[in-house]
Amino acid sequence: MDHLVSPSLLAADFTNLEKDVTIVNSSEADWLHLDIMDGVFVPNISFGFPVIEAVKKITAKPLDVHLMIVDPDRYLERFCAAGADNLTVQYEACTHLNRTVTEIRNLGMKASVALNPHTPVLLLKNILPYLDMVLIMTVNPGFGAQSFIIESYNKIAELRKMIDEGGYNVLIEVDGGIDTKNAAKLINSGVNVLVAGNSVFSSPDPVKTIHRLKNLT
Ligand code: DX5
Ligand code: ZN
Repeated sequence: MDHLVSPSLLAADFTNLEKDVTIVNSSEADWLHLDIMDGVFVPNISFGFPVIEAVKKITAKPLDVHLMIVDPDRYLERFCAAGADNLTVQYEACTHLNRTVTEIRNLGMKASVALNPHTPVLLLKNILPYLDMVLIMTVNPGFGAQSFIIESYNKIAELRKMIDEGGYNVLIEVDGGIDTKNAAKLINSGVNVLVAGNSVFSSPDPVKTIHRLKNLT
């Protein structure tokens, strides 16, 4: 399968989101990544339902919604109604993860679980059959434009092995510090989806940067 690119709106121009959503629409991006932060699970607050609903009206791409919030079960239906296509919850924020991902799928969304950098992939062993995707956080969640954590390559390799050996149909997404320099190595390590915020929206030509992330040599 060809890999996917999911630009993160967190690095977009919030005074003119329509401009940046339109740029992503005209690009080779596969999804649009939306980071929801509650100021509790992570030390930052981003945006919520009104912004997701507004973006849904103008995006041509499926919404890849990444929840960095405590107790996400309270809001699964509302994220679905707001327009989420993929819904990622943080492993560390879920007490009954099986129930949570089952509910996400029952609502008609793709279910995904994110791991913080310190959380071992082995903890996903018994949940993999219920997932569409695993998001490996390659920075500590909460902020854009941080440096990629190099240890992530070991986690990706370990997870790739677990997925292949189990014969699961689960994508691996990486998020944090992804750019045109490390993208090829990540894809060669078994990653399926690249999230990129700062490297896309701070570049002089985001459409071209997305093209480069999509067409790695
Ligand atoms: C970080 C978020 C990321 C963030 C990535 O907590 O989950 O999606 O937007 O930003 P960059 O690509 O700038 O590291
Ligand atoms: Zn994210």
